[in-house]
Amino acid sequence: MSGKAGAIAIDGQAAAGKTAVGRELALRLGCPFLDTGIMYRAVTWLAIKEGVAMEDERRLSQLASSSTMQPSDQEANGLVLNGITLGTELRTAEVDQHVSLVARVSGVRQEMVRQQRDISARARQESGGIVMVGRDIGTVVLPDADLKVFMVASPQVRAQRRYDELVSQGHPADYRQILDNAMSRDRIDSQRADSPLAQAADALLVDTSDLTIDQVVEKILERLGSPVGRTVR
Ligand code: DC
Repeated sequence: MSGKAGAIAIDGQAAAGKTAVGRELALRLGCPFLDTGIMYRAVTWLAIKEGVAMEDERRLSQLASSSTMQPSDQEANGLVLNGITLGTELRTAEVDQHVSLVARVSGVRQEMVRQQRDISARARQESGGIVMVGRDIGTVVLPDADLKVFMVASPQVRAQRRYDELVSQGHPADYRQILDNAMSRDRIDSQRADSPLAQAADALLVDTSDLTIDQVVEKILERLGSPVGRTVR
């Protein structure tokens, strides 16, 4: 399948399983994977580090346009930001709490979209495709994607998955707080003026509440008409 995947856009709510599904799909298709959420997280991390207020749209936009980002080869779910590899730093509670505010800023979004399109163009040239995951991939970043998927799950299921993930990594976790945070991020992401979270008209809607990662991947492969989809493990 390598070299034939094309561009696959996966959008959806926080913790609907987009990253786990996207990563597995990219692995089976033999193409690169980009979680665009970590790019907004990287700008947020920089803003916190440099003491930039989350309301200061001009400085947030400057931070974004003076940063270069590439998916990391070394760290799963990592990002190389201005030459420095970041991983767990991008998923702290502090970043979680502020990232939706940074992702609302148009100047930040324009720069992220520009870099995401560059990454996609390079990947399509070098590997014949890419799996890109986010909130506006099918609607704004890659409106001509070969396949668009929109993933949802109930807030309770999403909070439980995140809770289990944190506990399995030995981190402290509070189910109620996680649920509140996921719902608040969805609200901000869906209501912002610039490219809000929305299902593209031509996207395949998948409710992952009662599905495993493999089942979702198989559904997508089936839709792609891939031979890989018929020989899944
Ligand atoms: O997927 P995530 O939780 O890592 O995303 C972090 C934040 O970034 C979330 O508030 C949504 C926002 N985001 C966005 O606005 N557009 C994207 N393409 C990806 C993420």
